[in-house]
Amino acid sequence: MVEFALPKNSRVMVGKTWPKPEGAKNLRAFKIYRYDPDSGQNPRLDTYWVDMDSCGPMVLDALIKIKNEIDPTLTFRRSCREGICGSCAMNIDGINTLACIYGLDEIEGEVKIYPLPHMPVVKDLVPDLTHFYAQHAAIMPWLETYTTPPEKEWRQSIEDRKKLDGLYECVMCASCSTSCPSYWWNGDRYMGPAALLHAYRWLVDSRDEAKQERLDFLEDPFRLYRCHTIMNCTRTCPKGLNPAKAIAEIKKMMVERVV
Ligand code: SF4
Ligand code: FES
Repeated sequence: MVEFALPKNSRVMVGKTWPKPEGAKNLRAFKIYRYDPDSGQNPRLDTYWVDMDSCGPMVLDALIKIKNEIDPTLTFRRSCREGICGSCAMNIDGINTLACIYGLDEIEGEVKIYPLPHMPVVKDLVPDLTHFYAQHAAIMPWLETYTTPPEKEWRQSIEDRKKLDGLYECVMCASCSTSCPSYWWNGDRYMGPAALLHAYRWLVDSRDEAKQERLDFLEDPFRLYRCHTIMNCTRTCPKGLNPAKAIAEIKKMMVERVV
């Protein structure tokens, strides 16, 4: 039976306000989404107070301080703390971005932090990226060749190598795909900006020999053409990449091969 109401857990409740640290003079409020799907309870927004005089400059510094000093149950992903692993992506002050390279000085007033939008939540700020990674695997993110391999490496000219700039830097953080309304509504079939940017990265690689196979896979009303050029992906990418342009280039390749 079709269900028209939003699920019960879509309602975020007012959460706990944690005590202010004693003796701190420079306090800042953090409102952070808390949710444990196994508990059967609705998500809530907890308020934490952080002493900014003893906190690092990035949003991730504050999250680590909260976890270490106030609430060890707060759950989030992080690894490199320098914008290269992609694991600390979350929605900060309304923007999908990386907590480790987003400065607290870029936010006015209290800091609101939610998980990446429109994804199932594993716990608190950790989204379930299983489907997102499966889509990445589906575009064959590797060099595909059919001719006999050369004795040494596959050579590439400097000009051809330059075509990969602005593409290979993607850290698979999912900020772009989860900012895209088309991906929100059709993410089961639309590949989304991140997977399509990677698809284009291999389509323009001069060494790859599976161009037609790659285009065949994407020639589909949903996989590629559910992009309606909304551009949220490019606006939000914390690495300054342009997935919308990559998608437009794939669409151009489709037209050129038909003509
Ligand atoms: S294109 Fe940018 S926003 Fe999208 S996954 Fe890659 S790094 Fe993240
Ligand atoms: S911790 Fe690696 S990108 Fe933020």
